[in-house]
Amino acid sequence: MCGIVGAIAQRNVSEILLEGLSRLEYRGYDSAGICTIAGNKFSCIKTTGKVKVLKDEVNLVGCPGLIGIAHTRWATHGVPSKENAHPHICDHLALVHNGIIENFQELKQELIAAGYSFKSQTDTEVLVCLIHSMLKKSSSVLDAFKLALARVKGSYGLALVDLNDPDTLYAARSGSPLIIGLGIGENFIASDTLALLPVTRRFIYLEENEIAAITTRAVRVFDLNGCEVDKKIIESDLDAESISKGEYRHYMQKEIFEQPTSLQNTLIGRIIDDKISNETVVGIDDNTFKDTNFIQIVACGTSYHAGMVARYWFEELTGVATNVEIASEYRYRKAVVPDNALFVTISQSGETADTLASLRLAKEQKFKNSLSICNVNGSSLVRESDYTLFTKAGAEIGVASTKAFTAQLLSLLLLALIIAKQKQAITEEKYKEIITSLRALPALCQDFLSCDKQIAALSEQFSGKHHCLFLGRGVMYPIALEGALKLKEISYIHAEGYAAGELKHGPIALIDNEMPVVVVAPDNALMDKLVSNVEEVRARGAQLYIFVDNKAQLKNDKQTQKVALPSCPEILQPILYTIPLQLLAYYCAVINGTDVDQPRNLAKSVTVE
Ligand code: G6P
Repeated sequence: MCGIVGAIAQRNVSEILLEGLSRLEYRGYDSAGICTIAGNKFSCIKTTGKVKVLKDEVNLVGCPGLIGIAHTRWATHGVPSKENAHPHICDHLALVHNGIIENFQELKQELIAAGYSFKSQTDTEVLVCLIHSMLKKSSSVLDAFKLALARVKGSYGLALVDLNDPDTLYAARSGSPLIIGLGIGENFIASDTLALLPVTRRFIYLEENEIAAITTRAVRVFDLNGCEVDKKIIESDLDAESISKGEYRHYMQKEIFEQPTSLQNTLIGRIIDDKISNETVVGIDDNTFKDTNFIQIVACGTSYHAGMVARYWFEELTGVATNVEIASEYRYRKAVVPDNALFVTISQSGETADTLASLRLAKEQKFKNSLSICNVNGSSLVRESDYTLFTKAGAEIGVASTKAFTAQLLSLLLLALIIAKQKQAITEEKYKEIITSLRALPALCQDFLSCDKQIAALSEQFSGKHHCLFLGRGVMYPIALEGALKLKEISYIHAEGYAAGELKHGPIALIDNEMPVVVVAPDNALMDKLVSNVEEVRARGAQLYIFVDNKAQLKNDKQTQKVALPSCPEILQPILYTIPLQLLAYYCAVINGTDVDQPRNLAKSVTVE
């Protein structure tokens, strides 16, 4: 989703801004722009398409200046075009914006009546004009900025520069994340830390409704009432290299192959003396979950699928009733909350607008406590939750989530074990058995990746296909959903996941010999049931691709292709069987020639509703 970078320095900032934009590309966008100030005038360049196009244009015409702002836009109001790309300028002010101004039509009418005219269809241009109009009522740009924001309904991360004061960069946040990067004699702003890693690792996180005035020497942050706020500086443990592609062709491919390491990182320091340490979840003690009676999990997209898997584990291992819901639905539902209920959010970014809104709602409801499973330290979700379990997957750049998903699953399993132990719901034997399995996970993950070549070859058969079904049962049903989501996100082949037992209630009507059906069939208690469902599909001519344990008695024939996978403990099957499905989606996308890491219309971090 939209990305913001801003810089004020004693050197030309355009390179810093463009490098920052490149590092935000993974968030998803459709146009880009930059605006710097030099010699008392703006240099403003905007282009549609990739940041590379903007870079070429800047190299051609130049964009000098010691202060500037830049933006990648993911269209909300108005089509992707040069006119609608940010920055938007009103007289001596230039603004970039991430988020949505909901009352922009009403404000626009007022401004038109006051003599303002507009070149774009955006809500952002309305906002910069609103700030400008407030200058008449205020003594400074900072005051005008505050007055304008008081009129705004919606969400925003903003960066503003003023031609009349080229020594100050302004920033504000409500609903959309914004961070300030601290350099030596230079300071920066950005939508996330990854954009600024080449220039700093020291960050200040803006909280809701805070406004900042930033110079080369000082950063001053104010709350809604204009009171200056003392901010904590957080040092990032990421380095600029964490977002390099290395030897891989795509980030997604790199991230799939990183999973033995990322899963190992999720485990490091978490198993101590054959026990999951309490420190795995920041903020808990031995009794935090003792009385937990109900667990509500809320998330979006791939993270929601992790939540669906977790429900099976939570109910089986802890005996606690668990519900899982999509955040955009939960936030508008009047949920009944029992006593001693725990609210769990799952999010790679920690900034997903609907998940965050659900957490805020949960705080008004009578949940006893809240816990986030998150990959980004310092993110909004982490800061606003009572407890956090960091997934430690490392920076994930590919829009389609891979290593973050498997790290979420592993983290949820660790959480299930902690709760089960506190509630004394699990036998010592079962607990030990799972701990032993967990220790074997990174090596097993490496073994599963050896199916890479077979999957690459098999993907060729998906070329030219327009639809595909994924089937699974029990805890593998959400994995079938995730497999289908991966395939459609990046290869643009229409794919749906189904609980295999549900097939005959409708989707079986779609089956013919043009329809590939992917079956996730590890060796578990539901295997026989699944085999019957597969026969129903085979009888209707489907082309079957069955992912099974290598010991399974299943023969390849004209209609059936078997992908034999290493034997693994049942509890780890959802994590490990995800890997071949990620590879399948990846290779189908490569064959279809799509933009694997930045698929069309998608955003990595969805910070608007
Ligand atoms: C977007 C991404 C998905 C992700 C979802 C939730 O749609 O493209 O990959 O699963 O947001 O994101 P979160 O950061 O909350 O896990």
